[in-house]
Amino acid sequence: MADIVILTGAGISAESGLGTFRDKDGLWTRFDLSKVATPEGFIENPALVHEFYNARRANAQESSPNAAHFALAEFEKRKSGDVLIVTQNVDDLHERAGSRNVLHMHGQLSQALCAACRATWTAPLVMTPEDRCPDCDAPSTRPDIVWFGEIPYHMEKIEDALSDCRLFAAIGTSGQVWPAAGFVEAARMVGAHCVELNLERSDVSDRFDEVRLGRATDIVPSWISGLV
Ligand code: APR
Repeated sequence: MADIVILTGAGISAESGLGTFRDKDGLWTRFDLSKVATPEGFIENPALVHEFYNARRANAQESSPNAAHFALAEFEKRKSGDVLIVTQNVDDLHERAGSRNVLHMHGQLSQALCAACRATWTAPLVMTPEDRCPDCDAPSTRPDIVWFGEIPYHMEKIEDALSDCRLFAAIGTSGQVWPAAGFVEAARMVGAHCVELNLERSDVSDRFDEVRLGRATDIVPSWISGLV
């Protein structure tokens, strides 16, 4: 359980050089998400999908956590056991900043998945459609990413944590993708104080008690310092 649930999105990693999705030059303005982030797209052209995630994996590897990631890791250390980060991000910047209690509801670039036997393992930097599963040897490896139309990971743990949290924060997310966009409703239901920290108002800003606008590297450390 965690008293404090913090949902993060692509905006927290933007200042680390990782693209967001729906900003003016976001990933979905440059790539057709139906071709690179759906099971149907993967069946149609697995090489294109691997190419897309190989580029994102390399980008993530070359990037570093920023002040917002470090502030959250510091907060978790001070509030030992009471902070859960639920991230929509597939990079590992929270972990590299020192956060331990992190759930990746949309999967991770650092992991590979076998579509046949569901085995997972550490993904090589470059994946190809010819790779074979280390467990069942089927040529059916894919990035361990939750694509549109698939069920996000860890939903039971997330719903449990939301059901008794007293503070819920959403950082760097546009509130356009469900179920993450609905987490604030679950937190409000149990009377949690809800804070949104984002560069601009999101689709769900009016559901929050508090909205703090600005760049994550500015507003997250100052928000955290006001809590500890
Ligand atoms: N600091 C704070 N917020 C920022 C910054 C920044 N430096 N830069 C951008 N943002 C905000 C934008 O204003 C936007 O509201 O981050 C948000 C990013 O929104 P999206 O690009 O929609 O990313 P996200 O909300 O994480 O998308 C959710 O959609 O495509 C799927 O699986 C993908 O996990 C992703 C999910």
